[in-house]
Amino acid sequence: MKLAILYGTETGNAEMLAEDLQSALEADHEVSVANLSDIAPEDLDGDTFYLVVCSTYGDGELPASAQPFGAALDAGDPDLSHVHFAIFGLGDSAYPDTFNGGSAVLAAALAQRGATMIGDRVTHDASGPDLAEDLALPWAEAVIAEAATRLGAAA
Ligand SMILES: Cc1cc2nc3c(=O)[nH]c(=O)nc-3n(C[C@H](O)[C@H](O)[C@H](O)COP(=O)(O)O)c2cc1C
Repeated sequence: MKLAILYGTETGNAEMLAEDLQSALEADHEVSVANLSDIAPEDLDGDTFYLVVCSTYGDGELPASAQPFGAALDAGDPDLSHVHFAIFGLGDSAYPDTFNGGSAVLAAALAQRGATMIGDRVTHDASGPDLAEDLALPWAEAVIAEAATRLGAAA
């Protein structure tokens, strides 16, 4: 099972987290990192488990680097029934009405096209006490273990 971390960011926090996750995971896994701005829905394959890390901007919307990918999902309505992913959100409870809306929107858009979400969406709160990587690494390890079982291959 290949691993790919895909990040959606506005000001770089999700990119830094994606790189931190890659560093932590690459001892045990082959893992690539890509900005969602460089990925089209048709690039997603069934042999890879996708760890999506996405922030929220505007009024609960996707960050700039994820917007073309989100628009392509809406425009093309692709069949993603072969795709497995997990998602980690970055947000801030200073925006209580739209807290982590970006990762929620993206998870729903992928699931609507048939992609299978592994594990629960886990969210980081920039106003909270936790460092994002302290939540994201246990999340990644748990969903990778579950994906290895579900995809029927060694991680
Ligand atoms: C102008 C602006 C709008 C934001 N809007 C939201 C929001 O609606 N909901 C939320 O949970 N976080 C919101 N955030 C917080 C960001 O998602 C959070 O700071 C995140 O860590 C940024 O990650 P990034 O650098 O990868 O984009 C906003 C931040 C800014 C500066």
